[in-house]
Amino acid sequence: MGEALESWSAGGGEPVVRRLWWAERDLWRQHLLRLGPEARRDRFAGLVSDAFIERYCQAASPFTLALFGAFVDGTLRAVGEFALLDRDWPRQAELAFSVEDAWQNQGLGSALFRRLLVHARNHSVRRVYIVSEPGNLRMHRIARKSGMVLSAEAGELEGRLELLGPSYFSVMEEMFEEGMALWRQAPDLSLLPGA
Ligand SMILES: CC(C)(COP(=O)(O)OP(=O)(O)OC[C@H]1O[C@@H](n2cnc3c(N)ncnc32)[C@H](O)[C@@H]1OP(=O)(O)O)[C@@H](O)C(=O)NCCC(=O)NCCS
Repeated sequence: MGEALESWSAGGGEPVVRRLWWAERDLWRQHLLRLGPEARRDRFAGLVSDAFIERYCQAASPFTLALFGAFVDGTLRAVGEFALLDRDWPRQAELAFSVEDAWQNQGLGSALFRRLLVHARNHSVRRVYIVSEPGNLRMHRIARKSGMVLSAEAGELEGRLELLGPSYFSVMEEMFEEGMALWRQAPDLSLLPGA
């Protein structure tokens, strides 16, 4: 588990960070619907309705989107979205994050950010982006810690980071982290039609 979670203090077991199976994507939808108004505004650059979130999740495609989640005591409380931007080479991806209100500022966003960067490297993504509100200081802190360059773009802040390609270490790191996470908190296959 990453350094940001070493001092986990929110009570309960240490969070499990792992990739979501596509058949688990309804957990993601339920998580987004639990976001409060401020978190929705920061995540979607506007105060979006439940209907907007339903449409957003419905439109998601497993060919361009990978979801990573942080589970706290078995419930999905934070998600990192990894969206491939186009079919160009070298590949580029946009990252987005959502942490439920009561679980913010406890290292989950940082842990997901690191996990998505390793995933991006291992998929030969050479540049990742985030788009964030100008006042979103937590997101900016996480981005800068990882070396992202932030610049103002049309009223929003865009973060950009050039990545190295995969290494033996980065591939093994992802395999190890995913293996450990599945060991600790695997999906219940009987609840996953079409998994
Ligand atoms: C932004 C968000 C993803 C961050 O995740 P998080 O789990 O709350 O953040 P973390 O605890 O991992 O890290 C927060 C960092 O910001 C720092 N921080 C907290 N408040 C801060 C402030 N007011 N100013 C500057 N830094 C601040 C923390 O100290 C921490 O840095 P550190 O690890 O170096 O100490 C989360 O709060 C969230 O989902 N917000 C709503 C949706 C959103 O903003 N999404 C991002 C746009 S896509």
